[in-house]
Amino acid sequence: MTQPVALTINGRLREDHVEPRLLLVHYLREVAGLTGTHIGCDTSQCGACTVLIDGEAVKSCSVFAVQADGREVTTIEGLAEDGTLHPVQQAFWNEHGLQCGFCTPGFIMAAAYLLKQNASPTDEEIERGLEGNLCRCTGYENIRKAVRSASEAMNGGTTEASRDLVGSVAAPVED
Ligand code: FES
Ligand code: FES
Repeated sequence: MTQPVALTINGRLREDHVEPRLLLVHYLREVAGLTGTHIGCDTSQCGACTVLIDGEAVKSCSVFAVQADGREVTTIEGLAEDGTLHPVQQAFWNEHGLQCGFCTPGFIMAAAYLLKQNASPTDEEIERGLEGNLCRCTGYENIRKAVRSASEAMNGGTTEASRDLVGSVAAPVED
């Protein structure tokens, strides 16, 4: 038996009929075709599936699609605006905040949420804010650097790295 859902994903209303047991992450990837949201575990630990629901970071493997009914979901595909990367995406690019990139969409969504809550987090606050996200490549230092750099950029400053790369074209993070 399916149930109707209507949710806004990256600014677009979408209506479907889904099984009540369908997880939001599967809905996003398999029904909506938004494969930038990754699945990295089956224990709700890795954070690769992080999206924003009504502006709040949520692991999309831990909620059912029907629970997102009537709500606004933002995925990694919806973070850039008019072809311009979100400052966190740009900072991950500038600061080499990824290796294999599998965990990256989740880290970027969690970092964007963190910086929305706290524009100038300390290193400890960055670590706490990202503790629900795992990188199996163990590249945490550059991830932290990227968040610091995004924080600076969002507060009007620029970093060495972002100055070097002004004008360069960065590719969006996808699967
Ligand atoms: Fe959701 Fe790992 S896939 S936390
Ligand atoms: Fe490879 Fe994080 S960059 S898992």
